[in-house]
Amino acid sequence: IVLAGTSAAFHASAAKPLVIGFSQVGAESEWRTANTVSIKDAAKKAGVNLKFADAQQRQENQVKAIRSFIAQRVDVIAFSPVVESGWDTVLREAKAAKIPVILTDRDVNVTDKSLYVTLIGSDFVEEGRRAGRWLVEHAKKNPGKVLNIVELQGTVGSAPAIDRKAGFEEVTKGNAQLKMLRTQTGEFTRAKGKEVMEAFLKAHGKNINVLYAHNDDMAIGAIQAIEEAGLKPGKDIVIVSIDGVKGAFEAMMQGKLNVTVECSPLLGPQLMQAAADVVAGKPVPKRIVTQEGVFPAEVAAKEFPNRKY
Ligand code: AHR
Repeated sequence: IVLAGTSAAFHASAAKPLVIGFSQVGAESEWRTANTVSIKDAAKKAGVNLKFADAQQRQENQVKAIRSFIAQRVDVIAFSPVVESGWDTVLREAKAAKIPVILTDRDVNVTDKSLYVTLIGSDFVEEGRRAGRWLVEHAKKNPGKVLNIVELQGTVGSAPAIDRKAGFEEVTKGNAQLKMLRTQTGEFTRAKGKEVMEAFLKAHGKNINVLYAHNDDMAIGAIQAIEEAGLKPGKDIVIVSIDGVKGAFEAMMQGKLNVTVECSPLLGPQLMQAAADVVAGKPVPKRIVTQEGVFPAEVAAKEFPNRKY
């Protein structure tokens, strides 16, 4: 997709700046902060009038924000849904008001796909598979050894939590070396990741060989819990996580995290371009997938200077 560049994006019919109402999930992680910065910066560069609303992790706040954007008659509504389900009614209201809706980052579970124009973001199932594949290869280095896994899931009911779990299971299920001991939500936050890891350690102690965290923030919280329990993160417990934020690269350089699967939050330029295209009546693909990589600890120091978030 071509980026909007520095020229202002104007509403095709009225030569007025494009107005986008954006409802953000919250500020739960390093990833989310970078995503918000990307969207605000891209809006500024494209000359878009951005109405930004922080939902503080609550779906009802997002529904309220979307209704307020409809009342204000913005040109485009965009949002990153906290959870997948429960969007039909409010999206039907946006459709009735003839306001196009763009999803960023996370998917919704609606039967009528015409309720939104496009979804811009990562393939979360593939991210889960990538995490699982790394672990399968790691297990091969210790043939015959059974690795007990604990999993920190993201926000219950959110697309990344559902899909990252599914992708990981798809690749690891049936592997005699990999055994899931416990799985619980850590809500995508450091504090909750630490708290749940403490509980895992209390229950299973040194029997835990692997932590699979659905995001880097929970992994970083868990690292603290592991150290406080007198164990070595990255060695006594192998840690696989997702996002690729700078904090994860720092942890890898300290030998405390083994691999991070990239999930790019830099969706702002693509959102501005898609919004301008939709308003101009140009065709926009139903799905715009972000290109991403996998970064094991061995490449962390070399890659760190290139990281943008
Ligand atoms: O939806 C993307 C996920 O949400 C990121 O992996 C996580 O860090 C964020 O909170």
